[in-house]
Amino acid sequence: MRSLVRNSVVVFMLLVVLGWIPLCSGRPDPSQRESLMREEAFRRTGGGVLLTQEELDLNTKVQKLKAQEMVLPEFPPTMHFFKATPFIQRSPIFSLLKRMPKGAALHVHDFSMVDMEWVVKNVTYRENCYVCFTDDQSVRFLFSFGQPKPLPHCSSWSLLKTLRSKIANSTALDNSFIRNLTLVTKDPDSAYPNQDIVWKKFEQAFLVVYGLVTYAPVFKDYFYEALREFYTDNVMYIEMRALLPETYELDGRRNDRAWSLQACQDVLRQFMREHADFFGARIIFTVHRGINDTEAIKAVEEAMKLHREFPEIMAGFDFVGREDAGRPLWYFREALSLPEERGVTLPYFFHAGETNYEGTEVDQNVLDALLFNTTRIGHGFAMVHHPLAKELSRKMNVAVEVCPISNQVLKLVSDLRNHPAAVLMSEGHPLVISSDDPAIFGASGLSYDFYEAFMAFGGMNSHLGTLKELSMNSIRYSSLSPEMKEKAFAIWQKKWDKFVSESL
Ligand SMILES: *[C@@H]1O[C@H](CO)[C@@H](O)[C@H](O)[C@H]1NC(C)=O
Ligand SMILES: *[C@@H]1O[C@H](CO)[C@@H](O)[C@H](O)[C@H]1NC(C)=O
Ligand SMILES: *[C@@H]1O[C@H](CO)[C@@H](O)[C@H](O)[C@H]1NC(C)=O
Ligand SMILES: *[C@@H]1O[C@H](CO)[C@@H](O)[C@H](O)[C@H]1NC(C)=O
Ligand SMILES: *[C@@H]1O[C@H](CO)[C@@H](O)[C@H](O)[C@H]1NC(C)=O
Ligand SMILES: [Zn+2]
Repeated sequence: MRSLVRNSVVVFMLLVVLGWIPLCSGRPDPSQRESLMREEAFRRTGGGVLLTQEELDLNTKVQKLKAQEMVLPEFPPTMHFFKATPFIQRSPIFSLLKRMPKGAALHVHDFSMVDMEWVVKNVTYRENCYVCFTDDQSVRFLFSFGQPKPLPHCSSWSLLKTLRSKIANSTALDNSFIRNLTLVTKDPDSAYPNQDIVWKKFEQAFLVVYGLVTYAPVFKDYFYEALREFYTDNVMYIEMRALLPETYELDGRRNDRAWSLQACQDVLRQFMREHADFFGARIIFTVHRGINDTEAIKAVEEAMKLHREFPEIMAGFDFVGREDAGRPLWYFREALSLPEERGVTLPYFFHAGETNYEGTEVDQNVLDALLFNTTRIGHGFAMVHHPLAKELSRKMNVAVEVCPISNQVLKLVSDLRNHPAAVLMSEGHPLVISSDDPAIFGASGLSYDFYEAFMAFGGMNSHLGTLKELSMNSIRYSSLSPEMKEKAFAIWQKKWDKFVSESL
């Protein structure tokens, strides 16, 4: 198809040069124009999807709604997500997208999937929950039988139950906890003037939630609630990047990584028994990219071991943390070559190119991820600046995981119409839409990110075929085996047909 397009352009140019199409005398040939426009529409994501009559009817309706929304003075993709949220919640397109079966969430992190209000209202109200207040106006939590040992730079621990009983109304305290657990604020531009400041608060939020979610009973309930929230948002399968930290019991006893993985597997099985149309979840084991090569070798060895022991749930390996501040993939080349050298399979799912510092070592991550045979690329925000990496990604069928809200909140781009994924989508580059850390961004599930992607990328050129392809891509580019994909597609198709007929 591509060469056909190229040929038609060459033929067109030839005709111009030979003077058979009189360009300078005024009017280009309208039929030539039509065919070029068709070719271009065909190239974009979803451009080749054939729609049924029902789907075409729904598309007409959707495009009409979209056109109305795009001319509003407050068009959400042009605004910061924290300001756009109430407008998105009122959008009829958003309600449609919430009901739409979105397939899989392929780029989400373990401790930022569950609504932080649930975390505060449910988790911090359990027995034996202690809080301390840090020197830099943040908080830490810990469950313990008795008074825990003090932390450096933190007040002495207070039992929350006692603290709450002393104040007449806990709402303000709870809201302050929620503000510590998310980035949400009324005026994001003045709260977060640059990437360093927003990343600092972002990493701080993980420290706040950490003491709560690594308490063994909470770890399980949190994962269950994560599955429930994504399932409710019409997501049928999840690939979750997880630190799989040690968890602790009330008496201070610790459980290792294998315990965490086993716990995820048990909770998942229970959830699937209770929700027959949920397809499952797999885990990508992650470590922080601030570690050194010796530690990386240990981490990769542990990943190989976990992959061998839990082949069903364990999908592979990745690094997390801010790319600009961490070590580049090339630094870890010795560790990352281990599986290949030992003849062991360990699929990689690298975050790469979550930066707009071009020409740095970190900017090279997109190419290096591909050289290490990554299964997908997390973010790939910098990819459009690397034509060869882009070609390679397409040739190797390595999809880019695009997380629009994350990229905006973490200040890679402000107006989402200018997001580089808009270019990738116009070329039909393999990609999926995901939500990264929805709970920290004040979002949930996948629908908010689908809304931003659908409204911002391609504008009126994105249509129901685009949504259908994006949804199918999430299964196509998952780590599931071909047989499992076929099963997943069958379930998805049923959900999709139901969605279309119910939306007309
Ligand atoms: C928290 O959620 C769990 C699981 O849904 C539930 O069993 C428990 O009663 C809730 N606890 C509180 C304090 O809300
Ligand atoms: C507690 O305070 C919040 C505002 O901080 C208020 O909205 C709420 O009504 C109060 N609740 C009670 C029971 O007084
Ligand atoms: C975090 O919680 C503390 C304690 O309640 C509070 O003083 C502080 O203002 C909160 N931080 C934010 C950013 O709201
Ligand atoms: C790597 O990091 C570990 C833990 O911080 C440290 O003990 C070790 O000395 C470091 N190794 C090298 C070679 O820097
Ligand atoms: C990547 O895959 C190619 C082709 O299968 C293989 O030759 C190469 O050794 C792999 N590289 C790594 C680092 O795994
Ligand atoms: Zn991520």
